[in-house]
Amino acid sequence: MNLSPHLSVRGGHLYVGEHDTVRLAAEFGTPLYVTDEERVRARYREYRDALTAHYDPVQVLYAAKANGNPALLRVLAGEGAGADVFSPGELELALRAGMDPSRLLFNGSSKSREDLRLAVERRIRVSLDSPDELDAIDQVAEALGQTALVAFRVNPALDVPTHPKIATGLASSKFGIPHAAIPDAYRAALRKEHVRPVGIHCHIGSQILALEPFVEAARVMVRIAGELVRLGVELEFIDLGGGLGIPYRHGVDRAPSPREYADAVMPVFVDGVRELGIRPALWVEPGRSIVADSTVLLTRVNSTKDADRRFVNVDAGFNQLIRPAMYGAYHEVVVANRADAPAESTCTVAGPICESGDLLAEDRALPAVREGDLLAILDAGAYGFAMSSQYNARPRAAELLVRGPDRALMRRAETIDDLVATHSMPPWL
Ligand code: LLP
Repeated sequence: MNLSPHLSVRGGHLYVGEHDTVRLAAEFGTPLYVTDEERVRARYREYRDALTAHYDPVQVLYAAKANGNPALLRVLAGEGAGADVFSPGELELALRAGMDPSRLLFNGSSKSREDLRLAVERRIRVSLDSPDELDAIDQVAEALGQTALVAFRVNPALDVPTHPKIATGLASSKFGIPHAAIPDAYRAALRKEHVRPVGIHCHIGSQILALEPFVEAARVMVRIAGELVRLGVELEFIDLGGGLGIPYRHGVDRAPSPREYADAVMPVFVDGVRELGIRPALWVEPGRSIVADSTVLLTRVNSTKDADRRFVNVDAGFNQLIRPAMYGAYHEVVVANRADAPAESTCTVAGPICESGDLLAEDRALPAVREGDLLAILDAGAYGFAMSSQYNARPRAAELLVRGPDRALMRRAETIDDLVATHSMPPWL
């Protein structure tokens, strides 16, 4: 199996950077997420460099939902990244990590007035998802004596090749405002006293492996930018969203690199804005493609069982990584303590959760596996920990960051005490 550049096999053990995963698991316990800091930095830089080779100004906003760990946000803040934040929590995390407020976009399809207040108070640009939100933010800004800086999220009505649950720009999607309604939305914004429309935003979906949908989205956005310029909107940024996929099936999937993305999309963008005589900043919001392959999820084999299929029962389930159960997602599996052994049997990797769907990987050719072995689930850095839960009263896993010879927890494992920390007993019990 081909591995990302920061992964290697030495003496039969899987290494993340300089670190033997077998030793990390022994020291920190399992399940354990292990993230390579340099890999995250490298992927961020690939984006920044590829886009700035075509245009300036460019701002990469990391989609914090992919993994909002404060340490990762700090790493990316240090690189100059901004963030797409989708909740007050993500907003707060990004600010505490030291991100520049002017490099944040507060997104969301259902924001409360309190959410809007938090954003306006901190002068965060807000992507509005409905005309109702425009009315609400105008009132919120008036009460604060401020002017809200806003964009509208366009629904570009693009049917992109990805899992239906993560195609966000379909005409039927809950996100965004239909193209036809966009001019009226901006006209209304221009009439508001406490709102200034400064940008336009879209996001067409996630885990997209083809370039054409991104090019098409750029065409749509440039067309809309033209309509807005004619209305008198001064566009400070055009945000093309995130969505570039990664090759989860190693050696099978082919994902465009950030450079290929930039080479395909930027000519459309650059020519488009030049023709319009404007020079807005280009914003993009990649999440998965920055962090997914930086991280493995280490999980210990509790038992094996030959039944209808051969099951390998491990200590991480969809409580730690829900993507396979939720989207039928594929993640490569490596037997981390015998990573160079030949495949011997077809195994299904099952978690400890009381659900038949709690399978991390189905029908994979793996070396002989027995109790005590260590499996690594690859490409678990995006929407892995971030979507984990305490289902079945299982504490969430620790997250370890490695850089060169250093390694440190960026989140400790939860304990049973953490599980009950927010409980209270009604007084009559
Ligand atoms: N910007 C917006 C407005 C988004 O809604 C998203 C993802 C992104 C950026 C980042 O997209 P990315 O570059 O990561 O594809 N939990 C799913 C993915 C959900 C994505 C939702 N929106 C999964 O595990 O595949």
